[in-house]
Amino acid sequence: KEKVLLDGCKRPVSYMRVSVTDRCNLRCRYCMTHQTRWLPRDQVLTLEEILRVVRIAVDAGITKVRLTGGEPLHRKGVLGLVERVSRLEGLQDLSLTTNGTLLAEKARALRRAGLRRVNISLDTLDAEMFHRLTGADLFERVWQGIMAAADEGFAPVKINTVVMRDFNAAQLERLADLSRQYPFHIRFIEYMPIGIDPHESDDRFMPMTEVRQRLERMGPLEPIANGPSDGPAARFRFVGAPGEVGFIGAMSHHFCSRCNRIRLTADGHLRPCLLSDEQVDVISTLRRGGTDADIRDLIVATLAHKGSEHHLRFCGNRMVRTRMVSIGG
Ligand code: GTP
Ligand code: 5AD
Ligand code: SF4
Repeated sequence: KEKVLLDGCKRPVSYMRVSVTDRCNLRCRYCMTHQTRWLPRDQVLTLEEILRVVRIAVDAGITKVRLTGGEPLHRKGVLGLVERVSRLEGLQDLSLTTNGTLLAEKARALRRAGLRRVNISLDTLDAEMFHRLTGADLFERVWQGIMAAADEGFAPVKINTVVMRDFNAAQLERLADLSRQYPFHIRFIEYMPIGIDPHESDDRFMPMTEVRQRLERMGPLEPIANGPSDGPAARFRFVGAPGEVGFIGAMSHHFCSRCNRIRLTADGHLRPCLLSDEQVDVISTLRRGGTDADIRDLIVATLAHKGSEHHLRFCGNRMVRTRMVSIGG
């Protein structure tokens, strides 16, 4: 029979996002600063530990798992992890969020290991702008990665674009147009002030209402209904297009009331909410020889701690940060 995990606000929670490494080969401005330091290796969960927590979570009722990072394809052994997680009984959906730089060479092996879906972060189609935004001249590699993912049959291929008024706003139409050429889902994401200089975010933030108005000038958008296990995106399609566009209004439009997820960080903590600093220590219990039942209790405790909504606020065009968090995505 179906097991359903409920959080403290009676929301069903079926989705776990798992950061397999804090390391990344890019330096996207909205995600990292020059001060960002990697975690010491011994503070990062081993792949065995990650698999164990995921297995216990799936046994408890999690049906959807996403591997993220840092850059998950940067971690040695991640293919083996994909293979083993994909075989867990009760898992219905396994996906991966990647910056795409290693995808051209790894897409086939990932597909063989049992992965069905990938979400790729891409904020511009201009190679020079990509370089400025990420610190690496790798636009072509990412594009090849996206094409490789499509060729290998990943479906749908989703592209995540963080919208920054002062940076890539002029690219919105070009990116959206990909959905008229390919069966891709292009999702525009509101910039979130997470772990960055608060002063930076003032003019950078562009609300999704404005992004949507811009795209509507390209042609009529028809809404697509959200499935029950769908992410936070509001989905649309240009009439006749093979792909979709989506809007993730993390700041202006709270989707907290439909929140269905918890997060496992690379250093072994469970987070009830992306935009809150609260977390539950799992790594200590793992390394103290805790039982499966102990780990399960920590998952249940995390659910109990999930707030009804996040505490970041934005007014007009300015955001006020009341809390600071150290993870993205
Ligand atoms: P799908 O199942 O493919 O729709 O996945 P997803 O949209 O949950 O995953 P993805 O990693 O592609 O995340 C897309 C964007 O949504 C990222 O910028 C995330 O930070 C943001 N996001 C995902 N979950 C949450 C959440 O619970 N709260 C907030 N505020 N943002 C979120
Ligand atoms: N604001 C919005 N989205 C962000 N992401 C990372 N940092 C931020 C931020 N500050 C996005 C990345 C990736 C996803 C997992 O999170 O673009 O696609
Ligand atoms: Fe859920 Fe927190 Fe995200 Fe809101 S901000 S949708 S409560 S994880």
